[in-house]
Amino acid sequence: MSRVLRFRGELSVLAGRLREQAHRPVPGAESSLAEMLGDRLLLAVRSHNTPSTLYYVQADGETYVVKVEFGRAQTMRDEVQWYRDAARRGLPRPLFITGHSGRGLSFLLLKCFGDGSTVDDLALAGASAGELGRHVARALDSDIELFHLTQRHVDPAQVHRLAERRLARRRRQAGAFPFLRTLLDAAVVTVNGEAMPGVARCLSRVFEDPRLVAHLTPDRVGVTFGDLHCGNILVDGGSTEVVDPRGGPLLPITYDYGKLVQSLEGGYGAVMAGRYVLRRTGETEYEFTTEDVPGYTDLGVLLAARCDERLYLQSLYQAALHFVAMLPHHASAQEETTALYLCGVSLFDKLLAQLA
Ligand SMILES: Nc1ncnc2c1ncn2[C@@H]1O[C@H](COP(=O)(O)OP(=O)(O)OP(=O)(O)O)[C@@H](O)[C@H]1O
Ligand SMILES: [Mg+2]
Repeated sequence: MSRVLRFRGELSVLAGRLREQAHRPVPGAESSLAEMLGDRLLLAVRSHNTPSTLYYVQADGETYVVKVEFGRAQTMRDEVQWYRDAARRGLPRPLFITGHSGRGLSFLLLKCFGDGSTVDDLALAGASAGELGRHVARALDSDIELFHLTQRHVDPAQVHRLAERRLARRRRQAGAFPFLRTLLDAAVVTVNGEAMPGVARCLSRVFEDPRLVAHLTPDRVGVTFGDLHCGNILVDGGSTEVVDPRGGPLLPITYDYGKLVQSLEGGYGAVMAGRYVLRRTGETEYEFTTEDVPGYTDLGVLLAARCDERLYLQSLYQAALHFVAMLPHHASAQEETTALYLCGVSLFDKLLAQLA
């Protein structure tokens, strides 16, 4: 009994102090946060390509994760809101404790799940498709449950316009990086001796054919997890939890199927883990291989078999679009960005071959 009371006390003091810091902007917010956490702080890990930092902290012998973003923090604000929405709809996430967004900072306080290992970590360590599939299916089922509760019909033209606007915005951001502009404008890209159309051509091929757009664009949107790639699916023995939801606009469920296809068929996890070889051999010619992940190869086949053909094509299309849309966020790392671009080119190639 006393342990429970003490546990609650420490955690609520921590949450209270975080809330104070959220509302009280101070110069040097980052060091003042570290000072406030004091010897409760076990480890701070900066995100790979987002402006957030994860602080692993201890309260009463338990470990918690505080995800923090300083300054204008719309993404974190939306993330906190997503957790609150899911709870309001009767589907609370067990890791979520609290979160807050203020002028000083935005934070999420989560229970720590296992050692932070993800399905990607498991797959790269050689886990079987069966084991990986159980975690992925659990994550996907909870996403679909939320989607079904909230979905509504929309005009597909509206969904397509959103996709077009997102790409146009990312293209403008890409303009700040000359190497990325060159990649995005390339008409043909040669990968391991095989010439393929660059993404600009692939996009025109789809966007200029209204029948193709109609076939590849879903007509229902709802609340979805919004970033269901295998680096956000955490595993702890046989248990599964998903972190890092993307709040904001309602999305088609294929948005998340697309994130899974990026992981299972697109090589996204291997690139993020630096497990690829890339060599530029000409203006737009590359030798490029991502590490073979046998568990994903088999699981990708299972996922494709679980979808009907149109859902699968829509997911493949989304996955290719995701690769293109994410490029400016990675652009300070040129090699990684080029690898992600080539993953997108290969997925577009696969999509267009299936549509032919
Ligand atoms: N509640 C948690 N328990 C244990 N580990 C966690 C938890 N939340 C996050 N992590 C670890 O931190 C990593 C990054 O978290 P998250 O995906 O929320 O942040 P991010 O901004 O997307 O960062 P990145 O771009 O590095 O993925 C996760 O992949 C996981 O390893
Ligand atoms: Mg993440």
